[in-house]
Amino acid sequence: MAILLLVSLDIQAQVISGPMIGHTDLRTSTIWMHFTNDVKEAKLVFYKHGDTKMQTSSFNINSGLFKTATALLFDLEPGSTYKYCVLVDKKKDTIKTGTITTQTLWQWREKYMKVPDFSFLTGSCTYFNEPKYDRLGKPYGNDSSIFESMAKEKADFMLWLGDNWYTREVDYYSEWGLHDRPARERAIPIYANLLKAMPNYAIWDDHDYGWNDADKSYPLKETSREVFKKFWCNPSYGQNNEGIYTKFTWNDVDVFLLDDRWFRSNDGTKDSINGKVNLDKKMFGNVQMEWLKNALLQSNNNNNITFRIIATGSQVLNPMSPYDCFRHYSAEYNELMDFIKENDINGLVFLTGDRHHSEVIKIERPGTYPLYDITASPLTSGSHKFGKEEKDNPYRVVGLEDMQNYSKVSFSGERKNRIMKIEFFNPKGEKQIEWSVGIKDLKSPK
Ligand SMILES: [Fe+2]
Repeated sequence: MAILLLVSLDIQAQVISGPMIGHTDLRTSTIWMHFTNDVKEAKLVFYKHGDTKMQTSSFNINSGLFKTATALLFDLEPGSTYKYCVLVDKKKDTIKTGTITTQTLWQWREKYMKVPDFSFLTGSCTYFNEPKYDRLGKPYGNDSSIFESMAKEKADFMLWLGDNWYTREVDYYSEWGLHDRPARERAIPIYANLLKAMPNYAIWDDHDYGWNDADKSYPLKETSREVFKKFWCNPSYGQNNEGIYTKFTWNDVDVFLLDDRWFRSNDGTKDSINGKVNLDKKMFGNVQMEWLKNALLQSNNNNNITFRIIATGSQVLNPMSPYDCFRHYSAEYNELMDFIKENDINGLVFLTGDRHHSEVIKIERPGTYPLYDITASPLTSGSHKFGKEEKDNPYRVVGLEDMQNYSKVSFSGERKNRIMKIEFFNPKGEKQIEWSVGIKDLKSPK
């Protein structure tokens, strides 16, 4: 018995964290792991629930000190559940198991008007205390049992909205430190159930990119991008080795994941000079904006898509925010708003994080439908009451202050009457507020 226990402990010791489910579409999925440095090779065996046919995939293990790894599950059937087992080196023992479910093929079917109902979880700002290196005083990180409540939710995926870990002085000056922070936190057991319960997608904001309010001048940005790629499994990461922006589709919803840091002018850059808008002040940069415009047009012309969600770290629309907000980048803000209006981009909603409170901001647009910015924050970091500038924000439709929270975004109903509902929950999983909008109310008049 004692020998068996030792063998089992030895196998478990080869896993630092994982499995985490990454990008999943109709016929493929990804599994992420972090192995100990002695692991030379690892395999994933997977099979359809109730089937005998086994398939095998090799983990692609990153070199260097942090052996994170991903394996692809391929040749899967849509709308099906698969079991998987992780094996390391030549050993025959399974070290981790789990299940994944692929997306449904509903497009262009006989009854394709019936889009599957689905939901996803979202939130931003995760801080775990490490007192040895943290600021003195009240710890910034709070109740991490929120991740256990989230793991129990029935949802199709989780979208991490940035500040997914907080690099600090001991981390953001070195390549090793930038790796060590997520490696250390990913291994905290309270995450485990959520990471393997559903696919995970992510964007970054300042704290998981670099230091507070980090911009395009952050000297280790290339390393940050490598770390992001090593710890998440998004479908792609920017273009030409720059940035981490990408897009994915879930049923009838396109999600545009923007990078608000890689190309960003410092927040202190003057927004206007001598009364004229400063054209050099950018949050997303020319290349990413060009990509976004094309991606929005492509999406707008796809009849199978109803809602378009632009997700980014900083708030986008809030006119009352004294802090980071795309609105303070007037040249690009106006450019994007004009583009959306001129091209009748329909069903568009913004989803943002960073603020340490949650709210829905509504901006009326003359001659067309209003835009909404849904902010979901914080998961575990400090929260606050609305400051005096924002206390009575006339643009706020609903708000949640001074409380850790996560959100669930659900889509239901037929395509023409599709409803998007957002619910905000406290760490115990108790609903605090909700808000919904119908696709009918997000249509250009034309
Ligand atoms: Fe932030």
